[in-house]
Amino acid sequence: MEAKVEERINQLKTLINYHNHRYYVLDSPEISDAEYDELMKELKELEEKYPRFLTADSPTQRVGAEPLVAFGVVEHRYPLLSLGNAFSRDELLAWYSRVSKLSDGRQFSFVCEHKIDGLAVALTYANGRLVTGATRGDGFRGENITQNLRTIRSVPLSVKKEAPSRFEVRGEVFLPKTGFHKLNQERAAEGLPLFANPRNAAAGSVRQLDPRITARRPLDIYIYALGYAEGKTTPESHWETMEYLKSLGFKINPNNARFDSIDRVEEYYREWVEKKESLPYEADGVVVKVDSLPLQEQLGNVGHEPRWAIAYKFPATQATTRLKSIEISVGRTGTLNPYAVLEPVSVGGVTIRQAALHNEDDIRRKDIREGDRVLVQRAGEVIPEVVGPTPESKQSPERGKEFSLLDKLKRNEQGHPLCPVADCGGVVVRSEGEVMYYCTNAACPAQAQHRLELFVSRGAMDIRGIGESQSALLLREGLVRDVADLYYLKKEDLLKLERMAEKSASNIIEAIEKSKDRPLSRVILALGIRHVGGEMAQILAQEFKDLDDLKSASREKLMSIPAVGPKIAESIIAFFGQEENLCIIEGLRGAGVWPKSEATGKEAVPLAGMEFVITGRLEAFTRQEAEARVKELGGTVKDNVTRKTSYLVVGDEPGSKLARARALGIKELNEEEFRHLLERKA
Ligand code: IVH
Repeated sequence: MEAKVEERINQLKTLINYHNHRYYVLDSPEISDAEYDELMKELKELEEKYPRFLTADSPTQRVGAEPLVAFGVVEHRYPLLSLGNAFSRDELLAWYSRVSKLSDGRQFSFVCEHKIDGLAVALTYANGRLVTGATRGDGFRGENITQNLRTIRSVPLSVKKEAPSRFEVRGEVFLPKTGFHKLNQERAAEGLPLFANPRNAAAGSVRQLDPRITARRPLDIYIYALGYAEGKTTPESHWETMEYLKSLGFKINPNNARFDSIDRVEEYYREWVEKKESLPYEADGVVVKVDSLPLQEQLGNVGHEPRWAIAYKFPATQATTRLKSIEISVGRTGTLNPYAVLEPVSVGGVTIRQAALHNEDDIRRKDIREGDRVLVQRAGEVIPEVVGPTPESKQSPERGKEFSLLDKLKRNEQGHPLCPVADCGGVVVRSEGEVMYYCTNAACPAQAQHRLELFVSRGAMDIRGIGESQSALLLREGLVRDVADLYYLKKEDLLKLERMAEKSASNIIEAIEKSKDRPLSRVILALGIRHVGGEMAQILAQEFKDLDDLKSASREKLMSIPAVGPKIAESIIAFFGQEENLCIIEGLRGAGVWPKSEATGKEAVPLAGMEFVITGRLEAFTRQEAEARVKELGGTVKDNVTRKTSYLVVGDEPGSKLARARALGIKELNEEEFRHLLERKA
């Protein structure tokens, strides 16, 4: 029995690793997600039941281990180098002629790779298993981020037996543009500072002390070097080394190319200058490498930089224009967000009229003033940014005065600054130690609109048919004052709105109805608690039974959750301390929007969503007792076996249900296994 289980576990691991590789490394899956999930489920269950067979390299172990207090230090056996840059054709050719001179007239070829904007890591494998993953650090010593790198699906946890007994590969961890975009949208919704670019986002994700957060970020990796290898001879060229690493299961950028002349290298570069926006990742140039490894060795390094490679940078997407004025918008949580209104300018083929300016301190630090000529920058998907005034502008005698956000605001009779939103009239404050100013009016129209937009958005309650303009209309017409009011809308109400057709009204009502059974994490996210975005909402939904449970959580209870720090804890408590928000919670409860915890662990409803069918006589339970136990744990008991049945519990003298379950491939439990399951989950 035991041997059989172990065999099946090993078989599942091999299968899942194979499909992981097809999906995450080769981008060419062979089975459906559902089939994959089935395999994972079976493995997880076996490992749960037989924990002695659970190993660190199991594909189930990518979800993220317990948080760390600090990262350990890893000494790199060979330093991780950086690269010299070429900013022009002349500089590339100068590099080429240096290399030519030093290579004694021998012919050589080049490998061109994209210089991906992420962060360099080194992965060490011993006896086929990933043992250490480290950041570059200062090149000599990096941080031990093994736990986090293990969560990246395209990092193999183990490699084929034929691999060198010990070796290190190096590569770039990055966040694809789409993932970066999504993460920043979430952060904007949470009122958290945005990541300036995918590089910072990747670095921030990988250097999380809580690997569960890393696990939720869609990080990826391309391997670009073999650091060292023991116990095996490896190829003599960089290109073949990459092919070899590919055969071991590593992800190599398919856009890499090998050329035998510098002219072809230039062509490759020019081609990608044109096409770089279409890449799924951010790249800031082409790394040109000498292909021959013996020649690389002969060329050696100067300081931190190898002579055998150079980064040929893409032209910067920057331009200068006039900053017409600095305006202020109000965010969902009431923050006053300054932004630049620019004379339209084309940056890398895109016309820019506005750019983010973050906050007053930042504007002053960069010394940006209205009327200045400013340098504007855009990097791929990133929101355009004002870098700073041009040097000439800075010296101009007619320059405007230093920016002050408060100067932009009207004041009330008591002299307090007021929210810039029309019809708001809320007083604006800036708390000690905070960089942002806030509008204190809970009923501020701009905030209400943003809250409603967040509530109905895809990642939250996903209510289709209510976009920006409908949200504004609903609020303006007084049909909705807070988000819970949505659930009390009638079709007749909607029909009163401008340009609202019968069909759209029905669709909206239906979409609202459908949103009632969104899971707890979505509802928590939809509430728009400051600093609580998608990731945090999921964590909270696992820790708390329902909104009441979250509402009454103490600071201590909140802080006992590893991913929750004082800022988030305070924010949650402040949220539920506000009368308006309690009204919303009651409104949701009244409308039946009341999801339960998504706990996967022991608490709450461990058998939620599981359907049991019982056949035959059980020894230790009557049928009623068995049913009651399953229900207590959140499961259901049905009379008939269907595709949805999770388990068939098989007692003495089973009936025809057994045959049907077998035909459908439903999992069977004997009485002992059933009892174990109940005990384990209870
Ligand atoms: S080769 C000595 N290849 O660029 C060679 N680096 O400034 C060093 N990078 O820290 C690395 N894509 O993080 C190499 N295809 C690529 C790269 C790449 C991005 C980064 C890497 C390194 C930095 C060098």
